[in-house]
Amino acid sequence: MKAASDAILRPEQAAYLEALEPPRDALLAKMEARAAERGYPVSDPEVASFLAVTARGARPRFIVELGTNIGYGAIVLARAAGPDARVLTFELSHDLCEEARGFIAEAGLEARITVRQGAALHELEKVEQPIDLAYIDCVKEEYPRYLELLVPRLSPHGIIVADNTLWYGHVARSVVPEAQRERTEALRAFNLALVQHPLLRAVVLPLGDGVAYAVKMPAVS
Ligand SMILES: C[S@@+](CC[C@H](N)C(=O)[O-])C[C@H]1O[C@@H](n2cnc3c(N)ncnc32)[C@H](O)[C@@H]1O
Repeated sequence: MKAASDAILRPEQAAYLEALEPPRDALLAKMEARAAERGYPVSDPEVASFLAVTARGARPRFIVELGTNIGYGAIVLARAAGPDARVLTFELSHDLCEEARGFIAEAGLEARITVRQGAALHELEKVEQPIDLAYIDCVKEEYPRYLELLVPRLSPHGIIVADNTLWYGHVARSVVPEAQRERTEALRAFNLALVQHPLLRAVVLPLGDGVAYAVKMPAVS
């Protein structure tokens, strides 16, 4: 996703921020190499760092991730959230689910990360337990619907992190290539709904390809 952050920041700023990232451990480095080899869209290292900082601070018990790929984000989140946290992550592709389960086993996290094969929207509808942290990193056109389904499922002070919300900078452009229009419109709608949501406090950050961060406000009695 280097091209995405280069489209948002000046390339020298993106390179500077990338160089600030601490070295990854052997497993994450291996997963990044695998993703690069296969062209898999795993989270950027700086987004992974943001997830880790967020999870370390909030100590979520129940985390839901939309879009597993090979399990990179799920492993980062489970490690950072600590030994009491569980991660439920959804992935459409059977092969990617299998690959993710392999890496999760290598990380020794099989007991805490569940990879569920299925369409994220369909699987999310079935979640009944309050969600402490949700990571949206899936079908861009579906982001507005993910938000609708997530807000009522979030615990008080529950957090939403969403990746790719600036979409190569397209969300801010007046002229968007035809092939990107539907995704761009969906992400614009998502960003607006997030920052204007009466139950959330939210911000969209120029990190990686754009990361949205929201916290659910507890009900006032
Ligand atoms: C950007 S990747 C996820 C990266 C991962 N979150 C990470 O941190 O490395 C998005 C994933 O969503 C999967 N996907 C696409 N459509 C989906 C759907 N309808 N439901 C669930 N997963 C889907 C893709 O196969 C892909 O692996």
